[in-house]
Amino acid sequence: MNPTPVRKKNSILLNVAFLLTCAAILLFLFKAPKETTAKLPKDANHSRFQDMPKKEAEKFCTECHNPAGISPLPADHPPKYRCLFCHKRT
Ligand code: HEC
Ligand code: HEC
Repeated sequence: MNPTPVRKKNSILLNVAFLLTCAAILLFLFKAPKETTAKLPKDANHSRFQDMPKKEAEKFCTECHNPAGISPLPADHPPKYRCLFCHKRT
């Protein structure tokens, strides 16, 4: 008959729900964004670009990465200006 305990119970549930939501969001932010874009390979073809200024290095990429080159870009490749902004060096 007394409504107070019911309301109290509800607000505890709401608080728990709120905390769970916060925890879920935090977990998502910590775990979700894993970078998947391929890094600049560490091999003979690419090692000279490790220490070059990015803009300088990017002039050479399309010598091999072009439709007629030894390693054409995939057909669904995203816009490709500034290669090294996406394909990070390690
Ligand atoms: C001398 C030729 C050559 C040049 C210049 C070159 N690449 Fe490559 N690249 C290759 C070849 C061949 C492959 C495929 C085999 C491999 O993984 O090494 C490749 C593969 C890649 C890959 C895919 C790696 C993977 O894990 O699948 C990326 C990314 C890449 N190159 C980025 C670049 C960027 C950025 C530049 C310019 C800074 C560049 N390449 C310049 C020959 C070249
Ligand atoms: C806007 C971001 C972006 C830019 C700029 C960019 N790429 Fe990519 N590239 C990607 C993504 C995303 C993929 C496909 C996912 C992956 O890395 O496997 C890809 C794929 C590739 C691949 C094939 C990798 C594989 O595993 O088969 C090569 C080679 C490559 N890019 C080279 C280049 C070169 C050379 C340039 C500059 C001319 C360039 N990319 C610019 C995002 C980018």
